Amino acid sequence: MPRPIPHIVWKKDRLRLLDQRLLPRRIVYVDCRTASEVARAIKDMVLRGAPLIGCSAAFGMALAARRRSARALEEAGRLLVKSRPTAVNLAHAVGAMRSAAETVEPARLPAVLARAAEGYYRWDLESNRRMAGLGARLLRKCSRVVTHCNAGALATSGIGTALGVVAEAFRQGRISHVYADETRPYLQGSRLTLWELMQEGIPCTLITDSMAAHLMKISRFDAVIVGADRIAANGDVCNKIGTYGLAIVARHHGVPFYAVAPTTTIDPGTPDGSRIPIEERSPAEVLEISGIPIAPRGARARHFAFDVTPARLVTAIVTEGGIVRPVCASGIKRLLAARPCPKT
Ligand code: MRU
Repeated sequence: MPRPIPHIVWKKDRLRLLDQRLLPRRIVYVDCRTASEVARAIKDMVLRGAPLIGCSAAFGMALAARRRSARALEEAGRLLVKSRPTAVNLAHAVGAMRSAAETVEPARLPAVLARAAEGYYRWDLESNRRMAGLGARLLRKCSRVVTHCNAGALATSGIGTALGVVAEAFRQGRISHVYADETRPYLQGSRLTLWELMQEGIPCTLITDSMAAHLMKISRFDAVIVGADRIAANGDVCNKIGTYGLAIVARHHGVPFYAVAPTTTIDPGTPDGSRIPIEERSPAEVLEISGIPIAPRGARARHFAFDVTPARLVTAIVTEGGIVRPVCASGIKRLLAARPCPKT
């Protein structure tokens, strides 16, 4: 198996990021030397995926700490948190770095925050491994599964969330085939998920976002497995646009729907999905594909980047701290009470 290409590299004075917008055609790296460059890279989708943008925000704070001022850290935190509004991992990572900086004298800030960011990154990596082990057990032998967007290694610091489960389940003989939604308009499914699955030698087929219903009607599926960008206190799951429709289709066909996410994606401060801020991106990203217009000049478009799947449609949520099933507020509360927080 080819060695995975590094997609986030901490170099102490800069954060080197694989430009995911160009995959799989080109391997190009972007160097960020300041927190505002990291925030810009997150906003512009150089990197994406809730856990990975959380880790890069932690490194962004470590870059800001090089200015040895509490005020610079505060400004950097604000900038990073608002770079993308939906994934709560950004706020979680910035909060963890702020805590690590408390009572630290200015001269020591660079070393302390660099160590804290590295710890945050390692925690995410380990959480992926744990979720993979727990989640794989939910699947029976030779399962056929559908996934949406990209919840693989490229979206985290480790082996991925939903795709980490898929990879481990494949190793155990529990996966026979993965169907990946292409995920309009950024095509994370076709460009990134297919690329990762094929590198791992996992049998996979690309489908457009609207094909899952038809496929579930004409053939057997055993599970839908997706990641998450924010999970509300009642278990509502916010993930890439199209996930909600997929969950409805799965319920209609009696197919279990699993969300896989670290506890850093759970936001106890958001009571339910209706309070989750849904990022709306530029309509140009819907009106064009690779810069080529696909609608009449002057056409209007909306571009919601995420949607919310109500808890009642989610069969189980897999986290590094355990599985929540049935998905409900009390289950989430119990899980969080026992959650091992990132060591920073
Ligand atoms: O817009 P993106 O590519 O950042 O959206 C990513 C997703 O929706 C993923 O499913 C989610 O972040 C989970 S990734 C482990």
